[in-house]
Parts: sequence; structure tokens; C-alpha cells
Amino acid sequence: MELKIRLLLYGTAWKEEKTAHLTETAVLKGFTCIDTANYPTAYDEKLTGDGIAAALKSGIKRSDLFIQTKFAPVWAHRPSKIPFNPHQEIEGQITESVRQSLEHLQVDYLDSLLLHVPFEDDSDNLVAWKVLETFVPHTIRSLGVSNFNLPQLQEVYANATVKPVIVQNRFYKETGFDIDLREFCAERGITYQAYWMLRNNPEILASDILKSVAVKLNVEKELAFYVLILGLGGTQILDGTTNPERMTQDLKTVGEVFGNRERLRELQGDIDEFRQLLSKLSTGAE
Ligand SMILES: NC(=O)c1ccc[n+]([C@@H]2O[C@H](COP(=O)([O-])OP(=O)(O)OC[C@H]3O[C@@H](n4cnc5c(N)ncnc54)[C@H](OP(=O)(O)O)[C@@H]3O)[C@@H](O)[C@H]2O)c1
Repeated sequence: MELKIRLLLYGTAWKEEKTAHLTETAVLKGFTCIDTANYPTAYDEKLTGDGIAAALKSGIKRSDLFIQTKFAPVWAHRPSKIPFNPHQEIEGQITESVRQSLEHLQVDYLDSLLLHVPFEDDSDNLVAWKVLETFVPHTIRSLGVSNFNLPQLQEVYANATVKPVIVQNRFYKETGFDIDLREFCAERGITYQAYWMLRNNPEILASDILKSVAVKLNVEKELAFYVLILGLGGTQILDGTTNPERMTQDLKTVGEVFGNRERLRELQGDIDEFRQLLSKLSTGAE
């Protein structure tokens, strides 16, 4: 159970009216970590809360779950879908958004809250961070950022009293697979949460290394991709499958590989090869 908390998070974006049912299903299948956002353009945070509440009726405890949400600056919301009053200072916006998240999710604390995207003016990231810090640890246990590049992360990190412990980013070629940013994270114990990998990585999805690991594990290549990213270390996967069979298979495979030193050792050569492929693709050498 502990392993699943660390490695796979159930992603609740774009699920609309199915959000509650899919979240409940994911938790009942064994996902212990849930990712949402107070960002109605892409998430229904209230229905995520309904799904969690329904799953908790089965006897799973709130403390068994890791519930993560996000605050997005005004510019990032669709204008008709800004959940808080945008005509107030950043402090008021964040305070209102955190209160809404607690209400939507039907909880009295959040395990993690991420700054969803940088502000238009990077100096406002620091203003927001100082506000977010006032909620730690009583209301928010840990803080992180999302869609930040390395200089933006470094600036927040350098100025923070409560350091960011999570970065959630698109894992794709356009950002060089965040190789430098992940190194910065690894040196500081910051967990890197990868998303977008199945949507925008045609070269990797067609690669021999993915095919070979898929055959070795007897899984779909998408799941082999998850395993290889997790094999890089210090990483978690945002898994937003809508398919209950995939939920079961993803949890089972990740549990088997990362719960067994021998199986992981057998994959070490593949993980090294995958690392080299990322490096080549990021420099355009292939
Ligand atoms: N921070 C941000 O700005 C941000 C932005 C976007 C997303 N996210 C987070 O990341 C989560 C994941 O989003 P995503 O865009 O990376 O992709 P995703 O929603 O997880 O979609 C993955 C796609 O791959 C398919 N798939 C095939 N094999 C799969 C397997 N073994 N396991 C899982 N899916 C498989 C899924 O189809 P089936 O449904 O048919 O299985 C689905 O169409 C979101 O729900 C959200 O929590 C964060």
C-alpha cells in the first residue's frame, strides 16, 4: 500500500460527470493518492471529493490517502470558470481557493497543494508562496509547484521557508524530459510527478526499449513507459486511466516491479538504456 502512495497517483482531470465514479473506483482498486485541482476548466474537484467520500464508506481511512490539489492564478482559468473572486489580492484568492478545496474534498487538511502554473509575473510566485506557507502544516501538509521550469523552481526554492517538495510537470521532449530539473529535484529530495507522457511522446512510444520492456513484463507499452519513468528514481506517475482493468493492471505491475528488488535489478539495463534514449532525444541527436 505504501508503495502505491509513492508511485502512482490517480489523475482526475477531464473526467467531468464521471469524476466521482472513477475516483471511487480508483481508490477501491488500490490507488491511495489522488490528484485534483480547484480548476473547473479541467477538473471537477467537488465530484472528486464525492468519489473519495464514497470510497471511504468501504472502511478505507482518510489517513490512508494522500489528497493533492492545486491553486491556479487568475490568468490560467477560463474567464467564465474562475472559482474565486479574482478582484482581490493574491492572498485573498489563495485563502478563498484553499477554503473551497477543503469544502469540495470534504476534508479538514490537504496532503499537498501545488501552485498549478507560474504567475504571469514570476515575482508573484514568491508572493503566492509566502501565502501558501501560512497554511503549513495544519491545513496543508506539503507544498509544490507545477508547470515550472528550472529557473522558476530555483527562485521559489531559494526564497522559500517551507521548501517545495513536489514538482508536477509534462514529461516530454519539448522540455528535454526535464533532465536538468529532475537532477535539481533529486539533489534536494523533491519528488518529480510526471504527466502527459502518453499524449506527446511518439518516438518513445515507438521505441525498441519500450517494446522490449512491455514484452518482458507482459504489459501494454504504455505501462512499460510508466515503469521506466519510475525506474529513473525520485519520480511518481499521474495515471488518469478511465479503464478499471488498466487501474488494476497498472497497480499490480508497479507493485510487483518496485516491491521486489530482484525484479527491479533485472530491469536496470533497460532503465539505463531508457535514460540514454531520453538524453539523445532531448539533444535532438536522434
Ligand atoms: N499539472 C497540470 O497542469 C496537469 C495537466 C494535465 C494533467 N494533469 C494530471 O495528470 C493526470 C494524467 O493526465 P495525462 O494527460 O498525463 O494523461 P491521462 O489522463 O492519464 O491519459 C492517459 C491516456 O492513455 C491511455 N492509456 C493507455 N494505456 C494506459 C495505461 N496502462 N494506464 C493509463 N492510461 C493508459 C488512457 O486511456 P484509458 O482511459 O482508455 O485507459 C488515456 O487516454 C490528469 O488526470 C491530472 O491529474 C496535470
